[in-house]
Amino acid sequence: MSTYRIASIPGDGIGVDVTAEARRVLDRAGELHGFRLEWTEFDWSCECYLATGSMMPDDGIEQLRPFDGILLGAVGFPGVPDHVSLWGLLIPIRRAFAQYVNLRPVRLLPGTRSVLAGREADELEMVIVRENTEGEYSQIGGRHNSGQPGEFAVQQSIFTRTGVERIIRFAFELARTRTGRVTSATKSNGIIHTMPFWDEVFAEVAAEYPDVHSEQTHIDALAARMVQHPDRLDVVVGSNLFGDILSDLAAAVTGGLGMAPSGNVNPPGEFPSMFEAVHGSAPDIAGQGIANPVAQILAGAMMLDHLGETAAAAAVRTAVERALSAGEVATPDLGGKSTTTELGAAVASAIT
Ligand code: NAI
Ligand code: MG
Repeated sequence: MSTYRIASIPGDGIGVDVTAEARRVLDRAGELHGFRLEWTEFDWSCECYLATGSMMPDDGIEQLRPFDGILLGAVGFPGVPDHVSLWGLLIPIRRAFAQYVNLRPVRLLPGTRSVLAGREADELEMVIVRENTEGEYSQIGGRHNSGQPGEFAVQQSIFTRTGVERIIRFAFELARTRTGRVTSATKSNGIIHTMPFWDEVFAEVAAEYPDVHSEQTHIDALAARMVQHPDRLDVVVGSNLFGDILSDLAAAVTGGLGMAPSGNVNPPGEFPSMFEAVHGSAPDIAGQGIANPVAQILAGAMMLDHLGETAAAAAVRTAVERALSAGEVATPDLGGKSTTTELGAAVASAIT
């Protein structure tokens, strides 16, 4: 029987609740599909920061290195500035482990009410491929003349040929396994250095994939299109910032943040990859036991795929669909009254 060593970092707020349900579902999938997940839990979080002055220990990255995968809840909570929590835990892991692909699949699931009323479940299925290690999220820049009338802040974006090319190539490879369409998010009309460079690399890589249909769209128009004609999108590739925004939008049109999983993937497999829901710690509903665990459960299914347990991953996805389409268990964000635990348990018992 295969055993996988998984690091669990539940983090803050509802991250803790949804991760517990994901573990329940994944353990059940393991029982039925002949593998075992050996969990090690890390309490790294804003609470940890308030007690110790850091989000994770100095050797945190070294502690995570030997694992086969990482399941992360959410990081960030009122009381600790978001840039401190994010840069103290999540972003160092993504960068140290070269998780340069942030993969965010979205699908309209049966039983969920999309803002796009009247769409059928199979009309809306796409995946956002977000660059995850550079771009607009850089530490380069500074502030000048603090507190003076002439105060200003400068933040540099970093677009390297290596970074841009590998994420675009990943998108084209992925498109070959799906419907064969790639849309690139750009803004080369307004951002006149980095975005034309992104477009050039996109065109170069596209030329190597004549079998894949490619197009580029400005981010503003793409946002509108995602709402009006999402059926014409399949693989959407974007920079760190554009990919982040598009994936929340895509989540919103498919039933909300409680449904959207994501993977931080190191494609060569040199380092552990990390799986998490797209959403954050939701302080507004934290501690109430009503967070929707589906996003985190589907993030767990992505982790199973990554580990090679594809049958179990498919079984988890089917169980989510069954639990939702029965219409008996739904958390408040889905219009129901169920708790996090009730929905998690319903998914676990629907696995075959
Ligand atoms: P959020 O995603 O935590 O919440 C946005 C809205 O969606 C809230 O109204 C929340 O109640 C709702 N929501 C989110 N997940 C839900 C779920 N599973 N079920 C039901 N409703 C759900 O985003 P927000 O409020 O901007 O950020 C809160 C904290 O989380 C901040 O500290 C932020 O930095 C952090 N954050 C962390 C992320 C990560 O760990 N990757 C990603 C996004 C935010
Ligand atoms: Mg986001």
